[in-house]
Amino acid sequence: MKKHILVIPGDGIGPEVTAWGKAVLEQIASQYGHEFTYDEALMGHAGIEATGNPLPDETLEKAKASDAILFGAIGHIKYDNDPSAKVRPEQGLLKIRKELGLYANLRPIMLFDELLDASSLKPAVLRGTDILFFRELTGDVYFGEKSRSEDRNTASDLMIYHRYEVERIAHKAYQAAQARSKRLCSVDKANVLESSRLWREVVQEIAKQYPDVETEHMFIDNAAMQLVKNPKKFDVVLTANLFGDILTDEASQIAGSMGMLASASVGDGTGFFEPIHGSAHDIAGQDKANPLASILSVALMLEISFGLKDEAKRITTAIDHVLKAGYRTGDIADTLTQPDKILGTKAMGEMVLQFLSKPALT
Ligand code: IPM
Ligand code: MG
Repeated sequence: MKKHILVIPGDGIGPEVTAWGKAVLEQIASQYGHEFTYDEALMGHAGIEATGNPLPDETLEKAKASDAILFGAIGHIKYDNDPSAKVRPEQGLLKIRKELGLYANLRPIMLFDELLDASSLKPAVLRGTDILFFRELTGDVYFGEKSRSEDRNTASDLMIYHRYEVERIAHKAYQAAQARSKRLCSVDKANVLESSRLWREVVQEIAKQYPDVETEHMFIDNAAMQLVKNPKKFDVVLTANLFGDILTDEASQIAGSMGMLASASVGDGTGFFEPIHGSAHDIAGQDKANPLASILSVALMLEISFGLKDEAKRITTAIDHVLKAGYRTGDIADTLTQPDKILGTKAMGEMVLQFLSKPALT
């Protein structure tokens, strides 16, 4: 298979983890006889530094011309404590989501048994958890009108949804639920918000087209609580942009660390694959970041954008073996980890490549 992949390393730890995602793509290509070509582009703080624009035009052009995009992370501490900054790294990510029509963000909460002790939650609560979040990605307060009064003392962000926006992501989530355990939980705040009442109304209508899927509606506050109380009760979770942003960070703790979670943003065109973690400037350039989320993002790319299920499975199996052999990055190490098995970014990346190349990997 021939594919052209755009790599956008981004900011902070983005470049160091993305390098390993790309290395895994290269290895898979040579093992399975695929021909992947690559290009690279700037976004976020890196884009601002080079061009003044968090999403340079050239990046957008390259993105549109590619078959899939592997992205690292975005953000810079410089802006976090400067609310007055007009140009911000995150604008690059939001703009590319909008421009590419990436309205559905899939965030699987995949649990490796070996990491049960790395979570702050009890292993008995976690065991068997397997959740797939569908976070809406191009609507909500993220893109609603923003305003600030002239005296600067009042501000607002419009929480807005259109029927079609809810419909199209609901269909995607229901189709996924049909292929999984046929349970879907839609999360909203319909007891307070009008946009959530529209959300619920539309999901109720779409549900009728999927009678084999059992639907539950839950308020966001309750969902946030249930997620740590009994994560196993969830399978497919469908929710809006802001609620999904918050719930998936919470859910990352089920998987042991933010460093383990990958995500796929899809819509009508090119798919966009990225770890859910941020730029983590505090550890950038120190060979401490966990590259597994980027590598798992590559597995999602192979499966979702290219339909290469075996190749994707091989990557998750290789990671499973690496973890079973006791290797950990600092963020997923626990008291049982042997100190000499705590690896840096590079050593962990190399370890995955080594296991990937084993002929018998089951
Ligand atoms: C995410 C991130 C982004 C978001 C930020 C960096 C704009 O937190 O992808 O979850 O809020 O969507
Ligand atoms: Mg987030």
